[in-house]
Amino acid sequence: MPLPQDERVVALAEDLLQQLQAMFGPHPGFRPAHAKGLMLTGSFTPAPGANQLTRAPHVTRPSTPVTARFSNSTGLPDLPDNVGDANPRGFAIRFNLAEHVHTDIVSHSTDGFPTRDGYEFLEFLRAAAASGPDVPSPKPVEVFLGSHPAALAFVQAPKPFPSSLARQTYYAVTAFAFTNSAGVKTFGRYRIVPEAGNDFLSEAQAAKLGPSYHFSEIAERVNKGPVRFRVMVQVAAPGDATGDATVHWPESRELKELGAVELNAVMPDSLQQQKQIIFDPIPRVDGIEPSADPLLELRAAIYLLSGRQRRKA
Ligand code: HEM
Repeated sequence: MPLPQDERVVALAEDLLQQLQAMFGPHPGFRPAHAKGLMLTGSFTPAPGANQLTRAPHVTRPSTPVTARFSNSTGLPDLPDNVGDANPRGFAIRFNLAEHVHTDIVSHSTDGFPTRDGYEFLEFLRAAAASGPDVPSPKPVEVFLGSHPAALAFVQAPKPFPSSLARQTYYAVTAFAFTNSAGVKTFGRYRIVPEAGNDFLSEAQAAKLGPSYHFSEIAERVNKGPVRFRVMVQVAAPGDATGDATVHWPESRELKELGAVELNAVMPDSLQQQKQIIFDPIPRVDGIEPSADPLLELRAAIYLLSGRQRRKA
């Protein structure tokens, strides 16, 4: 996982990292976003016919071991699971193809993202940071949201509390190019759909939950039996925007199944593993390529810079 050659991308990643660390405070050894998490292990089994979409190794083999991490939003490692800022939840999946060879999916529980690129996201974070309770209206964040409809739509999108991390759909948001063995290229966006179905709590129900309810619940659940998700790909139609995460495709677009992820156990040394693992939003595997979405290269840079700092802490 290399840093991008473009120095502007690296400089932007450094600025974003600093901004997030300033907003959430220093928590050495933890992520400055999606700080609270839990790691699990399991396997991926491809769906029949998935190789028509991609020739990627995990889709052409009978089974591939996976390592996964669920997380709450924000850079606060002790954030209670039942406060609004815990949403969107994160779900990162690593497909372990061979020793030190892997490809990842990094997804969260809201379909979309507030900004088209990292420059705009930095502007958004700075506006939010400068909009404390004592700042009179219109606060910088209100001004930003008033002039950025995609950010406003993301902020206003419902983010209900799931009854379980296993009862929630996750979206990787950006598009990827999937290529099969005949060289046919299809653009698509991942959706990780729980086999048990989506199930959400009311605000009142969520308010009664314990501060680590979701992580305790998923641990208990996998102890009783495997937790399964279907890895789906929402397929783009000609003309759909493939390089802009803020543009939604119509819900009528076909969903193709890539396969199923089954989680069977919590990693006994989950905290230590979280410190070490650096998920990569760019697939870096034959058969799945990044789209032109500017978020991808930037995120890969920031996750790598952040992960290197975390490992040293
Ligand atoms: C400008 C855009 C973005 C920025 C600056 C950003 C920033 C970050 C940072 C700094 C981390 C911590 C990385 C680490 O220390 O390993 C992180 C993790 C994460 N981000 Fe983003 N992010 C962005 C976009 C997104 C998008 C579009 C999604 C949803 C698909 C997303 C989902 C996640 C998840 C799930 C994690 C936790 C991954 C893990 O478990 O290691 N982020 N993000």
